[in-house]
Amino acid sequence: MIAILGAGAMGRLWAASLPAHETAFVPRPGQTNTAPAHFHFQEADGHSRQVTVSWLSAADSPALVLITTKAGDSTEAVEHLADWLPATTPIVLFQNGLGSQQAVAERWPDRPVLAATTTEGANRPAPDQLVHAGTGDTWIGPLTKPAEQNLYGVIARLSASGLSIHAEQDILGRLWQKLIINAGINPFTALLNCRNGDILSADLYRAHIDGLCQEIAGLMDTIGRGPADAKDLRQSIEAVARGTAQNISSMRSDVLSGKRTEIDYINGYIVRLGQSLNIATPVNRMLTEQVQQLSSG
Ligand code: PAF
Repeated sequence: MIAILGAGAMGRLWAASLPAHETAFVPRPGQTNTAPAHFHFQEADGHSRQVTVSWLSAADSPALVLITTKAGDSTEAVEHLADWLPATTPIVLFQNGLGSQQAVAERWPDRPVLAATTTEGANRPAPDQLVHAGTGDTWIGPLTKPAEQNLYGVIARLSASGLSIHAEQDILGRLWQKLIINAGINPFTALLNCRNGDILSADLYRAHIDGLCQEIAGLMDTIGRGPADAKDLRQSIEAVARGTAQNISSMRSDVLSGKRTEIDYINGYIVRLGQSLNIATPVNRMLTEQVQQLSSG
């Protein structure tokens, strides 16, 4: 049994793709309604089907847990499980940004904790609908020592989904690559309330993108993830902004639907890392504060 905590678009994509009898959602603390979740799934090839997912009961003993909550909720999610989950059950973290994964790994160093990053695209146009908008790749790698032995077993189990999954020993390196893209696209789309491609011609973006890339490159060099060249970072951000020009970024979508954004784990992570190393990150700080104001307002 694979347990999934977080029944948003990503959690539902895994639930819909893995064999139905092998998957269950983990109820949130205090959740009383445990009637199976039903939703309509539009697959990437256009086919549609109805999906039913049951909820994990106290008698179930999952072999693997996927945490697909927002970054800000993952420590609490693992806390909720840690009391009754055997210490040997692998936990795979699917959060965006950085900071939340290290927090879980540091808190439970003796558990097999892994992190994943994915380019699968899924969205929920309505609460009972899931659209697999684009196929992609998922990389999974160990964060704690005990997870090193579990990596290939976890990948074998998740491969039953038919999604494309790869082992990545340096998963933090891959999360950094994604962080750069999200840091350079998401806050601008949220502040400008525009599609990804439209940031490229906007004054706010043009005034700050080089500063943002210099701050990130400087930090990457300092922590041993360099050499990073600010111009290369800008090029990779712009390649993704062009490639996803018509997309609504996850951060803009959160702001539009009144949800908490993941800014604290994207540009906010860069600011905190800079603070801890005594390196100023004024552009990332300005973007973090402005997005925070946007979502609190
Ligand atoms: O966060 C997102 O929406 C995506 O990761 C990205 C890269 C901005 C593309 O839409």
